[in-house]
Amino acid sequence: MIQDEIRKLKEEQGAVILAHNYQIPEVQDIADFVGDSLELAIKAKEATADVLIFCGVEFMAETAKILNPSRKVILPVENAGCPLADCLTPEMVREARARHPDAAVVLYVNSTIESKAEADITCTSANAVEVVRSLAEETVLFGPDANLAHYVAAQVPEKMVIPLPEGGHCPVHRKYTLADVEAGHARGDAVVCHPECDPAIQEASDLIASTGGMARQAHLHQNWTVLTEEGMAYRLGRLFPDRTFHAVEGVVCEDMKRTTLEDVLRALETGEYEVTIDDEVAARARTAIERMIALRG
Ligand code: MLT
Repeated sequence: MIQDEIRKLKEEQGAVILAHNYQIPEVQDIADFVGDSLELAIKAKEATADVLIFCGVEFMAETAKILNPSRKVILPVENAGCPLADCLTPEMVREARARHPDAAVVLYVNSTIESKAEADITCTSANAVEVVRSLAEETVLFGPDANLAHYVAAQVPEKMVIPLPEGGHCPVHRKYTLADVEAGHARGDAVVCHPECDPAIQEASDLIASTGGMARQAHLHQNWTVLTEEGMAYRLGRLFPDRTFHAVEGVVCEDMKRTTLEDVLRALETGEYEVTIDDEVAARARTAIERMIALRG
């Protein structure tokens, strides 16, 4: 079985497999650790294994490499990207900073490494509110997801949160509609949505949470409709086998779904694709990422 081959090679090489909550079920099942981007970043930082096989998308594997540069970090598929990350360039961050010199720049980890290098601090959907609250500055340039910016602004009304760019969004979370919320409620489910969903969906849902937050709060109800990439419904089902989690069919992140077991095996066999980052960019991005990690307890 391919799973046995993966386990054997993994042991021989002293590798660990980290997988995001949105990965396909088979990849989640073979992973040593499954989590959201904050949990994965912390795992990567603390990892003592020589090789980290990172099943996710580029910006996550880059974050792992930045936090633990002496490890070999491998992304099993090349160019597993993120359209949300690509919608913000470092030039846009610099221009916004010039227009708002007193503002702090908070970038969601779903951003390119070059943009992170321009940020004061990064955040994930799990800690965005905490990060913004922690800042001394009253004005915050927040990018690249405008819906997450809206959510943070509602939670931290004492700050002025300016989305950067205007209208930055995740094309997957944008697919949910109010009809999905209504269908969930008609089934008798509690509806949980990700803060990358449109504000109208956030308002109509019973809970707004990052995927890590969903895992922590799923015990609150018996039946859920889960408005985030469908891999999360599988993850929740594994964590809470006595509860039901309905995903909306067809709302899938193609980049997250590209990694297969064959890719994981090939990554172990060939060492491809190793993540490398320019030293100067890495040093600047590390400051912003480490500042976020330092906020934790
Ligand atoms: C992440 O932070 O991993 C993504 O925003 C999805 C989530 O966990 O909420």
